[in-house]
Amino acid sequence: MALTRRRFVQTAGIGAVGSVTSSWIGARGRENALWSIVEPTLQASEPGVIVLASNENPLGPSATVMNAVKAAFGEQGRAPGRYAHTGDLIDAIAKKQGVKAENVVLGCGSTQILRSATHLFTATDKPLVGTIPTYEECAAYAEMMGHPVRAVALDAAFKIDLDKLADASRGAGLVFYCNPNNPTATYVGARATRDFLTKVTRESPDTTILVDEAYFDYVSDPDHDTHIPVAVDNPRILVSRTFSKVYGMAGLRMGYAIGHKDTIKKMADWDGGSGTGSLNVLAVQAAVAAIAQEASFTTNERARNKAVRDFTMKWFADRGMKPADSQANFMFVNIGRPAKGFRDACRAKGILVARDFPPFETSHCRLSFGTMEEMKKAVAVFGDVLAKKATAA
Ligand SMILES: Cc1ncc(COP(=O)(O)O)c(C=O)c1O
Repeated sequence: MALTRRRFVQTAGIGAVGSVTSSWIGARGRENALWSIVEPTLQASEPGVIVLASNENPLGPSATVMNAVKAAFGEQGRAPGRYAHTGDLIDAIAKKQGVKAENVVLGCGSTQILRSATHLFTATDKPLVGTIPTYEECAAYAEMMGHPVRAVALDAAFKIDLDKLADASRGAGLVFYCNPNNPTATYVGARATRDFLTKVTRESPDTTILVDEAYFDYVSDPDHDTHIPVAVDNPRILVSRTFSKVYGMAGLRMGYAIGHKDTIKKMADWDGGSGTGSLNVLAVQAAVAAIAQEASFTTNERARNKAVRDFTMKWFADRGMKPADSQANFMFVNIGRPAKGFRDACRAKGILVARDFPPFETSHCRLSFGTMEEMKKAVAVFGDVLAKKATAA
């Protein structure tokens, strides 16, 4: 569907009065839509389909963010007459995270951060190391460049196996440490992660570790902390964050990395100087607004998600399908049958669940949490679909 300027402004206007779930800014389904290249039914283009296939805030961004986007158009469509400097956003992020501007680099989504790091730190003799399964961006990009990838299995609880990952990290160019991990939603506590970072940087001093904290705001484990302070001190550690998840701004494409000033400079130089070539001003303005309104917005979203998470996890557990512990806005559950059959049957009833995640595609499914209303409709469909298979069997 063509996205005309008028339609965009109308969408932003609708968002500003509250009903933002369908806005292109929230871009619900973005992560999953990428995969429609390989499986067309993953693209939920028709209205009414409940998209539980992509880990974005189902409510989209706040009215404050939508208003910032609208304001960027200026009065009656006239430009506001001032270029939105990325420096404003870098300063806002630095202040929020308690670091200096020299420790922050912006990206067109954290995807760009993941790609830049893979490009900079892997090589034909410096593998990318990560878990399997995990978010595929770094491994896919390394493979595209012809750089080797080492994939390490998760432990029995679907968490990162720290000993195995540390062993595999020796001599690596880049270690992708996704915590909480997508697609399993499992989380390794802050203390164990710090020990892991110390061990790998000591035993393999030329290896860089990228700690992906995309789902940081959804974690409720008491042993939860960011690794930003370690990254600022250690040139071999980077932390990535995104505005696509809790802030509901996946359509705007804004992410960032925090690290030691030398590492951040390498990332920024590689991209032609702190994102000036790849960022758009609407996203910059919106991200500044998102940070300014943050406290109440993220607190509410975290609580909303947790209530839906508890409800959905219990629904599966009550039926004997124990999900992996979720510390995010999605879950990974053993449904005892191939994900594809389950997905197609749910899709026919208006519920879209996520793509396959090898090597668990014959038993596990990833579901993102929608609103409570959506999840109540979804579990009714899951119940039907799972019961039918059981009856047929
Ligand atoms: C763990 C993780 N990292 C990074 C990304 C990329 O997000 P974005 O480019 O929208 O910031 C995703 C997207 O789903 C993700 O799940």
